[in-house]
Amino acid sequence: MEILPGAREHLLGSNGNENGFEENPEIKIQVRGLTKVSEKGVSILNNVNVDIPKGVIMGVIGPSGSGKSTFLRSLNRLWEPSSNSVFLDGHDICDLDVLALRRKIGMLFQIPVLFEGTVADNVRYGPQLKGKKLSDNEVYKLLTLADLDSSFFNKSGGELSVGQAQRVALARTLANEPEVLLLDEPTSALDPISTQNIEDVLVKLKREQNMTIVMVSHSIKQIKRIAEIVCLLVNGEIVEILKPDQLFESKHPMAQRFLELSS
Ligand SMILES: Nc1ncnc2c1ncn2[C@@H]1O[C@H](COP(=O)(O)OP(=O)(O)OP(=O)(O)O)[C@@H](O)[C@H]1O
Ligand SMILES: [Mg+2]
Repeated sequence: MEILPGAREHLLGSNGNENGFEENPEIKIQVRGLTKVSEKGVSILNNVNVDIPKGVIMGVIGPSGSGKSTFLRSLNRLWEPSSNSVFLDGHDICDLDVLALRRKIGMLFQIPVLFEGTVADNVRYGPQLKGKKLSDNEVYKLLTLADLDSSFFNKSGGELSVGQAQRVALARTLANEPEVLLLDEPTSALDPISTQNIEDVLVKLKREQNMTIVMVSHSIKQIKRIAEIVCLLVNGEIVEILKPDQLFESKHPMAQRFLELSS
């Protein structure tokens, strides 16, 4: 799907209204002037502007400490952004109920943390908080969606490899029927086969459910495999927004460095 005519200006959406927010059904998340300063006064994110289109996989790359995780966490208020800086479907996320927001915008981390109990208990966790008990069949469906077969149903977290646990964490997140997935280096602790399993699931979720996915990754190769857009974050600023195969055209020294290291 050719979503992005490639232009950085287009993605930056420079013609928003005074709140930096514009109605556009093609855009799932708008970020406008997102700025974060640490309690000690150190700048962590500096005037980040980006439109995240609906139903795409967007990669986020950048050196360690550049603010990638902070950026991601700001999108579902794990780190609270200022009002009028992050919009989901045109609504300021600060005005939304935070738990409802986190159901809509699910997140996976580098190391999966499963709760006590079985795989099925984990998958049932989110809906149960809303008073809904998933049937065995619904749990099986979610496991299948995360590329796990039915033999995992009654296993406990301790019996799983990290790759399997990551897929259970994914199934648990998918049980909330999210519209957006935020992934913070979800495969960096996984072997190549588990990595491929997760990548396949992400591509399928995008294709079949029009899921919007934002993924921090240190791997340019991974970004090239599955992402349609990539943001380069350096010192808390987005310095490039490109299609992954245009990275080599970037004049930014950090883009060049990433490419050198990944070749
Ligand atoms: N809670 C916090 N309080 C103060 N400073 C923080 C906090 N969390 C992160 N930082 C600082 O913000 C900056 C960005 O951190 P962040 O974790 O977002 O970077 P990152 O790009 O995800 O790095 P990495 O690739 O190592 O995961 C770092 O300088 C970090 O020290
Ligand atoms: Mg990080």
